[in-house]
Amino acid sequence: MSDTKTKPLTTLTADELRDLATRVFLSRGIPEDDAETVSDILIEANLRGHDSHGVIRIPRWVVGLDSGALKPVCSPEVIHDKGGTAMIHGDQGLGPVVARQATSMVLGKAKEFGIGLVCVRKASHIGILQYYSQWLAENGVIGIVMTNTESGVAPFGSRQQILGTNPLTIAVPSDGDPYLVDMSTSVVARGKIVNALERGEDIPLGWAVDEDGNPTTDPQAALNGALLPAGGPKGSGLAIMVDLLTGALAGEAVGTGVKGTMNTDQGITKGDMFLAIDPGAVGSMDRYVTSVEALAAEIHDSQPVPGVDKVLMPGEFERANKAERIKNGIAVPHDLLAQIKALVD
Ligand SMILES: NC(=O)c1ccc[n+]([C@@H]2O[C@H](COP(=O)([O-])OP(=O)(O)OC[C@H]3O[C@@H](n4cnc5c(N)ncnc54)[C@H](O)[C@@H]3O)[C@@H](O)[C@H]2O)c1
Repeated sequence: MSDTKTKPLTTLTADELRDLATRVFLSRGIPEDDAETVSDILIEANLRGHDSHGVIRIPRWVVGLDSGALKPVCSPEVIHDKGGTAMIHGDQGLGPVVARQATSMVLGKAKEFGIGLVCVRKASHIGILQYYSQWLAENGVIGIVMTNTESGVAPFGSRQQILGTNPLTIAVPSDGDPYLVDMSTSVVARGKIVNALERGEDIPLGWAVDEDGNPTTDPQAALNGALLPAGGPKGSGLAIMVDLLTGALAGEAVGTGVKGTMNTDQGITKGDMFLAIDPGAVGSMDRYVTSVEALAAEIHDSQPVPGVDKVLMPGEFERANKAERIKNGIAVPHDLLAQIKALVD
């Protein structure tokens, strides 16, 4: 990273940033409850250290609202509902608003049937997936959430943008805060490269290739080229399966047909998948949580490699970030903040 290119930052508290974000969404006619939900997920992303999915998204989401491609007031509809499964049509609404309904519905199904599966079509980008999986785990079920995104990632061996960053999250109940993994199937989320471009920083080698298929540290060349899948053929295979469990299962698009996640003024063709499993329905909840904590203890007690203080369970990285940012605030690039403020002036 080149410090000389780094843009100046302003630090705000989470409440100040949440208030600003809510005012932007209210100014676009979004009902108060929905505006607060959408703002909360963006600020949670910043708090947890995923700035690529925080307030940087606001101008882009407003483009979608102002273009008419996204509806400020949406009426999601359950179009199939059979046993533990359901499909929600999102009515071109903002992703977090529809995802909130899907998460609540899938929890109800898992509590009733032991397992629940809710697919969503026609809702926009849903932000950080862990927001939903964590809520499910806090409510006593295993939460699994996936989504597919506009293509930007080369399948293993290719230099072409075919796959999305197609993230997935799994969160499990524990004795305290849930443990959760939440990851794009690319080396990093595309937003991290957009974020580096926004901040005027280079990206590490290994994140992406340029148009000729050569490794690059230039974020613009990376966006023109293709992101790389995490773990080579493993991440590539996982990304393909996420596509087939989200877009395909929701009756929507896969691969290069996925639209509306980055370019929000285009019609939405992505899909989301929410899965909840009640450990108590297939065995004993107490026993399950005991196993979760036993594994966490082994991981925590394992000997770190040189340069690592403590070996972490997934999700602890975000928890540490959140504690630090609640204390010290969230740093936002000056020009991004000005851009967001201009949306409510
Ligand atoms: N809605 C969408 O379309 C979309 C698309 C892509 C990504 N995303 C979101 O973007 C966010 C960022 O994704 P990412 O792939 O860049 O995540 P990341 O690479 O920052 O983290 C991936 C996982 O690694 C864990 N981790 C990170 N550092 C760790 C450490 N030092 N020790 C142990 N574990 C550690 C994290 O807890 C997380 O579970 C996620 O919340 C994801 O849901 C959303």
